[in-house]
Formats: sequence, structure tokens, C-alpha cells
Amino acid sequence: MNQTIDLLQGHRSIRKFKPTALTEEQIQTIVHSAQMASSSSNIQAYSVIGVTDPALKKQLAHLAGDQNYVEECGLFLVWCADLYRLQQACAKHGVEMQKQYVESFLVATVDVSLAAQNAALAAESLGLGIVYIGGIRQNPAGVTELLNLPQLVFPVFGMCVGVPDQEPSPRPRLSRDAVYHENTYRTSQITAGIDNYDQTMHDYYRERSGGKLDTNWSKQISEKYAHPSRAHLRAFLDDQGFGFE
Ligand SMILES: Cc1cc2nc3c(=O)[nH]c(=O)nc-3n(C[C@H](O)[C@H](O)[C@H](O)COP(=O)(O)O)c2cc1C
Repeated sequence: MNQTIDLLQGHRSIRKFKPTALTEEQIQTIVHSAQMASSSSNIQAYSVIGVTDPALKKQLAHLAGDQNYVEECGLFLVWCADLYRLQQACAKHGVEMQKQYVESFLVATVDVSLAAQNAALAAESLGLGIVYIGGIRQNPAGVTELLNLPQLVFPVFGMCVGVPDQEPSPRPRLSRDAVYHENTYRTSQITAGIDNYDQTMHDYYRERSGGKLDTNWSKQISEKYAHPSRAHLRAFLDDQGFGFE
């Protein structure tokens, strides 16, 4: 249709990278593109730490649950929700920033996600590959200490960026009817959406594993959500000043 749509629809996460550092120009383009994302009331409540130091990347790879590609990629970006800068802006005018709890947490998390996705697309448009790394929330306190994040800054996810050393095919998505509702939400669309996708993903996993993997999407979801996940996050967010009341 056009190059932008092709780029969007051709996305696939990359988990194997060539040992090539990004150029300063590439980093600049990626960060500038991230910065042009829309932002709630223009508060731009995020920061991003670009990690190039091999020793730091190694430690982050470990903190993210031993995901080696964090160490191997050209640049590891740590995307943070950031209310610290807003606090400083308020202080400049003698105002003590009032926490808006869930709202502040939400707008900062949305802002950082929009910026990160802009960065991802910019990187892909330059021929680079990316994968998001939610694994850094396994040990957010460790990441916070390692990167000297101040209070009111929370590492939401990481992102490996680099020159791809693999060519995976795009992962199929739910059918359009499962996610798009015209004018009103129709719960009746959901069951069929899950059933269709289960079939698609069953075939996809079988093919990708050479016939070894016999699972589907809803089975994976049910396994994931049968247990609580990262229950430490609430206490961590409290400690960082993102407390919920
Ligand atoms: C916020 C977020 C966190 C993620 N965390 C990880 C991660 O820690 N490790 C990983 O290998 N992939 C991670 N992913 C990648 C997803 O698994 C991937 O995007 C999804 O399976 C769809 O596949 P695709 O990106 O290839 O289309 C993450 C994706 C997002 C959006």
C-alpha cells in the first residue's frame, strides 16, 4: 500500500543480533522520532536510558531473566515512566507536585509506551530490528539501582535494538473481528475470535517447532494467567513514589 504500512505490517521481534554498535546518527534519529510521539498534555513523562556499556548490558541481561539478546544487541534502551521531571518543573514555581496516583502512573506509562513504539518503528525503518524486554520488571529495584534512577522514575520495559542476525516471519495476530467492534462492543465476536486464533497459532507453533510444540494461544494464556505474576511490582512502585491510594 505504502512504505509506512508495509513497515507496520511487516513487524517481527528480533532476538538474534550482529555485534554491531549503532551509529550516533541512528541513535539520534531513533530518539528524535520517539520524542515526537503524542504526549498527554505534553507532559512527556518518560525518560530513556541508552545502554551501550558491555558490562552494564551483561548485568541487565541477567536482571531481565538471562535474556542473552540484551547483551548482544547494539543498543539496549530502558524506557522509564518519569514523574521526576514534572516534580522539578513544579518546584521551579514553588509548587509541590500533587500525586494523582493511578492517573499519574497511567499517563506516564502511556507516554513512555507511545514514545517507545515510535522508536521501534524508526529503528525498523532504518533496517534495524527490535524486541521489547518486559523482563526488566523481574527485578525493577536492581535495574533502578544499576541505572541510578531517582525517585518518581520507573523502568517500564527495555528494548533491544540492533542489526538483525535472523529473519523470522511475522507472528500471526487475532482476526480483525476479535479486536475491532463497529459502534458497540459485541461479546459474541470473542469466542469465535479465540477459536480461530487457536487454530492459526496451533499451526504456527507446530511449523516453527518442526512439529514438536502442540499448543495454542488460549492454552498459553490460561497457563500464564493461572498464577500471579511479578507480585513485587506494587511494593516497588510504592518505594519509587508511584504509590496507589
Ligand atoms: C511490553 C512488552 C514486553 C515484552 N517483553 C519481552 C521479553 O521480555 N522477552 C522477549 O523475548 N519478548 C518480549 N516481548 C515481545 C513479545 O513477545 C512479542 O512482541 C509478541 O510475542 C509478538 O511477536 P512479534 O513482536 O514478533 O510480532 C515483549 C513485548 C512487549 C510489547
